[in-house]
Amino acid sequence: MSQSASDDLTEVHEGPIGEPAIRTITLPLDTNPEGDIFGGWLMSQMDLAAGNIAARYTRGRCATVAVDGISFRCPVKVGDEVSVWADLLGVGTTSMRFKVSAWRRPRDCEHMTKVAEAVFVFVALGPDGRPRPVRAGALAALRSA
Ligand SMILES: CC(C)(COP(=O)(O)OP(=O)(O)OC[C@H]1O[C@@H](n2cnc3c(N)ncnc32)[C@H](O)[C@@H]1OP(=O)(O)O)[C@@H](O)C(=O)NCCC(=O)NCCS
Repeated sequence: MSQSASDDLTEVHEGPIGEPAIRTITLPLDTNPEGDIFGGWLMSQMDLAAGNIAARYTRGRCATVAVDGISFRCPVKVGDEVSVWADLLGVGTTSMRFKVSAWRRPRDCEHMTKVAEAVFVFVALGPDGRPRPVRAGALAALRSA
């Protein structure tokens, strides 16, 4: 009898290093008419993940201003665990660029597969809703903390 993926406890975790910004489980209400997970749902998770990191790094309100080069590499199924990593690529005067990648793990095995990636651009906002400067030095200190 062949060994199933869930029995193979030696299978390695192949996701990015460190903690994800978001980790969640997909549900039937997140599906498209074909029964796979809706791409818009996955995009919203990626936006939430990068926004969470942006607000943490800048200690305040941030808004998504652009999403570049999003690609969906393979379908996500109901019941999958989805983890999203957001890594700071660069900082401007008021903006930050994040490389965001989403990974699926079927609930009965340890193997993670990258399902989507994109670059998200966030702008730090002041109380007036206008861009506010971000301090690259402070971001670097937070990243390494
Ligand atoms: C974010 C917002 C306040 C920026 O206003 P703005 O008048 O474009 O401000 P600026 O032109 O000064 O640009 C601010 C920064 O964003 C960057 N930026 C603006 N548009 C961009 C784009 N399309 N792609 C990449 N960067 C962009 C600018 O280069 C600048 O970066 P820097 O300060 O690091 O050099 C405004 O665009 C806004 O409110 N957008 C809606 C945000 C939102 O609701 N997001 C959720 C969408 S569902």
